[in-house]
Parts: sequence; C-alpha cells; structure tokens
Amino acid sequence: MLKHMNSKKRILSGVQPTGKLHIGNYVGALSNWVELQHRYESFHCVVDWHSLTVTYDQTDRIADDTMEVFLDLLAVGLDPEKATIFLQSMVPEHAELHLLFSMLIMLGRLERNPTFKEKVKDLDLRGEVSYGHLGYPVLQAADILVYRAHAVPVGEDQAPHLELTREIARKFNTTYADIFPEPETLLTPFPRVPGPDGRKMSKSLGNHILMSDEPDDIAAKVRSAITDPKKIRKNDPGDPNICNVYAWHVIFSSDKLEEIAATCRSGERGCVVCKQEAAAAISDHFGPFREKRMELVRDAMGLLRPGI
Ligand code: TRP
Repeated sequence: MLKHMNSKKRILSGVQPTGKLHIGNYVGALSNWVELQHRYESFHCVVDWHSLTVTYDQTDRIADDTMEVFLDLLAVGLDPEKATIFLQSMVPEHAELHLLFSMLIMLGRLERNPTFKEKVKDLDLRGEVSYGHLGYPVLQAADILVYRAHAVPVGEDQAPHLELTREIARKFNTTYADIFPEPETLLTPFPRVPGPDGRKMSKSLGNHILMSDEPDDIAAKVRSAITDPKKIRKNDPGDPNICNVYAWHVIFSSDKLEEIAATCRSGERGCVVCKQEAAAAISDHFGPFREKRMELVRDAMGLLRPGI
C-alpha cells in the first residue's frame, strides 16, 4: 500500500477561464507550473465557478473560453501523465467544502481583504456586491484545501488569498480536527510583465499579447510599445530601465541582454530594430507552442467531427 503513495509534495493552482492566455500569464504562472510538475504532484484547476463571481450574467462564453484555456495549458507543456488538469465545476466537493468554510470565516475579515476592496473600487461596485463575490477567497481556500495541497504557485497578487486560506485551515483544525496543512505560497520569479502601454499586462485592460498570437500580431503589438520617452531619434541614448520593450528582452532575450542594454544606453540601438528583435524573440519562443496548439485543435476537431 505504502509503496503506491506519492512522496512528492502537492501543489494546486487555479486559473480563470478567461479565454486564450497571454504572455503575462505565461511568465507569471504557466512557465513555472511546467517546471514544477517534475518536482511536485501537480493539480491545475480551471476555476469556472470563480468566473461567475462578478460576471454571473455573462455565461454564454464560458464553455468556449474554458476550452481555450485547456488548449493553452496542454500546448505549453503541462503533461496530463504528470499533472492533473481539471474543471472546478466537475468536482462538487469544492462547493461542499466552500459551504463548510463559509461558517468559519467572519464577514469583517472578508470585507478587509485587499483584493476585494480593490475590485470594488476598480469596478465601482459599492452597494452592488454579491455574497458570492465576497466569498471568492473562501471558494479558493476550498479549491486548495480539498486536495490538502502543501503549496500554491501564484503571483504576488494572490498572497492575501493564501493568507486567508491558511487562516481558514487553522480555524478548521482547531475547531474540529487537525485535517488541513497550511499551504505556502510559491512565488514565481517574474511576477509582473508590462503590456505595450506600461501597465501590468491584463486581458481586462486590453494590453495583452497572447501566447497564441501569430508572429505578425506580435510584431504589431510590440511596435506599439512605449519606450523611454526621452529617446526620440534613433541615435538618442535610452534608459532600458524605463522601457517596456527592454522588459520583454529581459524575459525572452536573456542571452543578449548586456549588449542590448549597452547599445541602447550609448545610442547605437534604435527602437525600431530593438522592437523587431523583441518581437522575433517572443515569436520564436512560442513557435513550438503554436504548433502544438494547432495539433491539439486539429485533434479536437477530429473528435467532434470524425472523418474530417
Ligand atoms: N484567484 C486566482 C486568480 O485570480 C484563481 C484561483 C482560484 C486560484 N482558485 C485558486 C489560484 C486556487 C490558486 C489556487 O488568479
């Protein structure tokens, strides 16, 4: 019996079904998950119930958007032989545990949650907050603790939710029985990727480059990026530290970074060429991903319409 037990520690992550994922998602989460699957027993959950917390009345796109996320997760290299990739709403135990946890957490604590306060402000919700929205982190705690995960690989923005998860685990353990480990946060090395406009890349801001974008689309988006505003002419010296294109080079051109920074500072490097190189580096990086994704789409079409 014992020899069948997995001695690896367990991680669980969740991703909302927002449709095709972007390079911010890749850098901040997916690339890390692909690495971690070799060292941890990995669970990756597409959290369709979470996506209802604010947009409960826009359900028509969830099925397609969920499919796009699964295609991205598989194409990026999560291996179903190693990692368990699944849909939240197919495991009703998440909802059961959420109900039990909802008795243990006080309203004031949820109202003080910084991610909640931010969202209410950003979306200008004020009086229009649902019970489910307030309980978003309680459902997240259930996602994690139902598998007794030891760690959760997320970006910094999720730290408040992880803190709440640990509090709920402690409260449960002291009230009933010592059942749940307190999961730790596994932060990703590059937490923030800017969009072309310099704000954090995000689908809701519309400043994203998709992992599945074709090279031409990547090139057009990279061309639109804001660089050092003082570098107006090609030979003006630039400051890489305030340039969004350089931020992408840091991630995708790490082998040529010193030369890129030095030639930008000295004025030998123009932004046009620098952008072409960044776009090529991004396109090349995701070349195998695009191919694998196409293959998966073809397979899925074959399953839906055999004989084609
Ligand atoms: N709140 C997470 C996000 O917006 C998504 C999420 C839901 C999650 N359940 C989770 C992340 C469990 C990690 C573990 O990104």
